[in-house]
Amino acid sequence: MALRFTITRAAVAIALLLVQLGLPVRSKPVATDPYNCLDGDSEIKCCPTSNPKKIVDFQLPQQSSPLRVRRPAHLLTTEQFQKYEKATALMRALPANHPWNFIQQSNVHCAYCSGGHRQLGLNITLEIHGSWHFFTWHRAYLYFYERILGKLINDNSFALPFWNWDNPSSMSIPNIYRRNTSSLFNPTRYPIALNFTDLGGCEGDGTPDSVSKQKKCNLQLMHNQFIAGFSSSLLFFGSPYRAGDQPFPGGGSIEGSPHSPVHAFTGSDMSLIVRAALDPIFFAHHGNVDRLWTIWEKIPGNGSKVFNDTDFLDASFLFWDENMQLVRIFVRDVLDTQKLGYVYEDVPLQWLNIKTVVEERGNNDAFVAMDERDGEGDVMFPLLVSSQVGIKIKRKVGAGEEILVVNDIKLDGRDHVWFKVYVGRVDGGRVEVGCFYHLERRAKESIPMVTKKQFGITQFIQEIGAVSDEWVVVSLVPKVGGDKVTVGGVLTE
Ligand code: C2O
Repeated sequence: MALRFTITRAAVAIALLLVQLGLPVRSKPVATDPYNCLDGDSEIKCCPTSNPKKIVDFQLPQQSSPLRVRRPAHLLTTEQFQKYEKATALMRALPANHPWNFIQQSNVHCAYCSGGHRQLGLNITLEIHGSWHFFTWHRAYLYFYERILGKLINDNSFALPFWNWDNPSSMSIPNIYRRNTSSLFNPTRYPIALNFTDLGGCEGDGTPDSVSKQKKCNLQLMHNQFIAGFSSSLLFFGSPYRAGDQPFPGGGSIEGSPHSPVHAFTGSDMSLIVRAALDPIFFAHHGNVDRLWTIWEKIPGNGSKVFNDTDFLDASFLFWDENMQLVRIFVRDVLDTQKLGYVYEDVPLQWLNIKTVVEERGNNDAFVAMDERDGEGDVMFPLLVSSQVGIKIKRKVGAGEEILVVNDIKLDGRDHVWFKVYVGRVDGGRVEVGCFYHLERRAKESIPMVTKKQFGITQFIQEIGAVSDEWVVVSLVPKVGGDKVTVGGVLTE
C-alpha cells in the first residue's frame, strides 16, 4: 500500500516537473490516416476516390528553382492573369478522377473539414479549422495547388495571386474572377461582393459614401484583429490540437475575422466550408490569410515565438504533388515560405499603425458580476448569446500579456454563428477586440462543439484607459445565430 502510494506520488511529481520545464507530457502530433476517410452523404462526398499505393515524405523544392512571387490579384498583368486562367481551365478539363482535377482539389479541403479524414490509428475526425493548424494546413494546401497549376502550363515560376482585401483598393471581388466564361468564375457569388467585401460587420448601403466609411471600418477591424493576436502564437494561430483531441479547441484572431466573414460575404459556395474551395477565389482568399502570417512573423520578436512544440511541428497531412505522388508533409516543412520557394509582393499595410477607435458603450447591456458577485448580477452562465450583454469581470493582471478568454462556447457545428466581443471600462468607452465566428457546415447529424476564444487585450486596456481599473466590462454582441450558442464564462488571465 505504502509502496503504491510512493510510486503514484513519484509519477505525479515527474509529470509536474515536465510541465514546469515546459516539456510536453505526451507526444501526439495529429496525422492523416491514408486508408480511412468517411463520406457524409451524397452532398458531401469528398473523400479520395482510391486508396494510395505509396506515400512519400515531403522534400523541399530545389533551392535553385525560380522564386514564385505571389502578387495581389487586382494588380496582375494581362499575361499573368491569362496564364492563371489557362492553368485553371486545364485543371478543370482533367478526367474527373485525376487527383489534379479541379473538383478533386477542392475535395481535398472538404475532406479535411467535413468529418471525412480520420486521425491516423484513432478513427476520430481530423479537422483543420479552429486550432493551431489552421494556418499551417492551408499553407501546405496552396503550396501544392500552385505547383500543380504551374506544371499544367509548364511554368515553374507560376505563382498564385492573393486577394488583397486588407487594402482599400481591393475590397471587392477582383476583376480577374468576374467574367462568367472564365475558369476563375463561380456562379454562386453574391452581387453585393462585387461592390464591397466586408471583413466583419462593416455593413452599409452600398452608396459611394457608405462604401468609403465601410472601407475605413475594414481597416479598423484588421488593425484590431492584428493587435488581439499580436504577440503570441497561441493568440495568432489558435490553441493546441493534438492526436486524440476533439476538434475546434479554439481558433486564432485572424481565423475568426477577417477570414470567416470574407467566406460568408463572398458567395454561397464560399460561405459553406465544405464547398468553399469550389470557388477559385478561395485560393486567393487563403493566399491573403497566408500572407498575414508572414506579416505577423516579421514583427520584431514574433518569428521566434512560433510554437516550438513537437506536437505542432511533427503534425502531418497528405496531398498530391505536381509529380503525381501522394506526399506526407510535416508542419515543420511549411514554416518558411522562402524554403518553399515563394514570397509575397510587398504592398502597403494601411491598417497597421492606425489609432484604435474607442466607442461609447451601448447602454442596453445587462450586467453580471463574476469572480466576486457584487449583487448586480442578473445573467447566469451558461449564457445564451441571443441579445447584447455586458459582463462585468474582475481583471487578473500578471506580468505577461493580459488575455481575455471566452470559455465553453457551445454550439452545433453545423450552424452559422457569429458574435462580436468588446472590452470596455465600467461606465466608459469600449473597443472591439474580435469575434467568435463559425461557418456553416453540412452533416447528417449534429456536430457537438465546445470551444473557446482568446484575445490579447493589453494594448486595448491601455487605449480605453483602464490600466489601473480593477473591473472591466466584456460585451458580447450577437450578429448571426446568437440563439444557437451559449457561453460558459468570461475571464481575463
Ligand atoms: Cu479551410 Cu477558409 O477555410
